[in-house]
Amino acid sequence: MHWFEVDKQGLARLLERKGKAFALFELIQNAWDTRSTEVNVTLSRISGTRRVRLAVEDDNPEGFGNYLSHAFTLFADSSKKGDAQARGRFNLGEKLVLALCDEAEIASTKGSVMFTDAGRINRRTKRERGSVFEGVLKMTDGEMQECAEAVRRLIPPPGIITRFNGSVLPQRPALEEFEATLLTEIADADGVLRRAQRRTTIRVVMPAPGETPMLYEMGIPVVETGDRWHCDIQQKIPLNFDRDNVPPSYLARVRALMLERMQGMLTEEDANAPWVRDAMQKHGDELSDATVSRVLDLRFGEKRCAYDPSDPEANNRAVSKGYALIYGSQLSKEEWGAARRAGAVLPAGQVTPTPKPFSDNPDAMPLKVLPPEKWTPAIAAVADYAERIGKQLLGCPVMVAIASDVSWPFSGAFGAGRLTLNLGRLGHGWFERADLAEINQLLIHEFGHHYSGNHLSADFHEALCKLGGKLTQLAIEDPDLFDLQPTEMRFPAPKGR
Ligand SMILES: Nc1ncnc2c1ncn2[C@@H]1O[C@H](COP(=O)(O)OP(=O)(O)OP(=O)(O)O)[C@@H](O)[C@H]1O
Ligand SMILES: [Mg+2]
Repeated sequence: MHWFEVDKQGLARLLERKGKAFALFELIQNAWDTRSTEVNVTLSRISGTRRVRLAVEDDNPEGFGNYLSHAFTLFADSSKKGDAQARGRFNLGEKLVLALCDEAEIASTKGSVMFTDAGRINRRTKRERGSVFEGVLKMTDGEMQECAEAVRRLIPPPGIITRFNGSVLPQRPALEEFEATLLTEIADADGVLRRAQRRTTIRVVMPAPGETPMLYEMGIPVVETGDRWHCDIQQKIPLNFDRDNVPPSYLARVRALMLERMQGMLTEEDANAPWVRDAMQKHGDELSDATVSRVLDLRFGEKRCAYDPSDPEANNRAVSKGYALIYGSQLSKEEWGAARRAGAVLPAGQVTPTPKPFSDNPDAMPLKVLPPEKWTPAIAAVADYAERIGKQLLGCPVMVAIASDVSWPFSGAFGAGRLTLNLGRLGHGWFERADLAEINQLLIHEFGHHYSGNHLSADFHEALCKLGGKLTQLAIEDPDLFDLQPTEMRFPAPKGR
């Protein structure tokens, strides 16, 4: 029982938006799906008319076999549905081409069919081998040009010589060819197309000058990707009904495979291109550490680290040392995941850590402190001076402790009103020289920490300026404060030290 009638003209009008080149692709892919070794495509204007003759001929020994009726039957189970390595599956393509034609003929090994104004006529004419589709359709010169350009985009399968208007379409050698498991669609026992994972070959092909990189299904271009290279998948890809797109998740996976394989050829432009970001964002977890590092090298440079909210000074130090500081928003969650896993971006706090004078670790060895009774007169004089000046500058009492610890990598430290001077680093000479400029330089720095711990912060800078200014003022108003005589010459030695 017939449920449907097809309005051929209506279908043809709907197909207009696809352009005419798809017709060539449909016929060529049918020919490539056979055991042909040669496929000849011709497209020529019928002189003096707005019509062209399109012919696609192959040399497949079996021709259409028992499927000649499929040439005009929509949606019958395609004999190629179960074969992941054949392009056909909808049993539709050939009929769409027929819809565009004013007249056509398909001749094959078991017979021929003519399509004319009068309808469809089966004929007994048989070909020795191979099949030919010949159709007459309307086409402008512009559309003919489009078809010629589209044919040049094809990637002919290695074993099939394919000609267009007599010229052999050149083979397009792969830059890389590799195997991977990818989603395909293949009919189950009930003839229903299902998606399944299957191992296949992927060919990465250099686009010709001016060509937009595309995703291909066994040599037939499907969708422009704008990636760096063409990518030709050697099995059915999960196509939409229009045969002009794939799900974004599929494309991202193909991109990730291509990125992994081609990482040695990546440029800075690639690293910032949407295709690499797509691969990193959606499949960062599948990429090798080397690939993730390479992409980040190209995007941010080899000297890079992550903004570290737990160590604000470390961020400034990193920038001042020429590191590119990567902020959270510059990478997606997935990219951060991949970058962390690959150890490709360390936090600033680990790359340029802020030296911490007093270890956060409570088990750390305590500083070796020199008790006051062991201070030399020169040390006592500097300590006394520092306490005096500190009180004036900061407006609060300052206590001096002398550390004698060469393993502690600081000359001094200041916190909670306590100034620690490290004899182990400064040496006795520093105290004995009693060089006021040298001593004040250290004091200004350490007292600056009364205001800020961050050496590279504006607050710290402000504090140093303020202290410098105040110190000068003090020197003018009360020069006695700056007398660096040993303590006992100024006051009796303080008790209890
Ligand atoms: N050149 C050819 N040689 C042999 N058989 C062919 C050829 N062209 C078409 N056929 C047969 O005709 C059928 C219909 O072709 P059609 O392009 O409409 O559908 P399909 O290739 O099966 O699926 P799709 O719609 O995905 O292209 C094919 O399944 C195939 O059996
Ligand atoms: Mg087909």
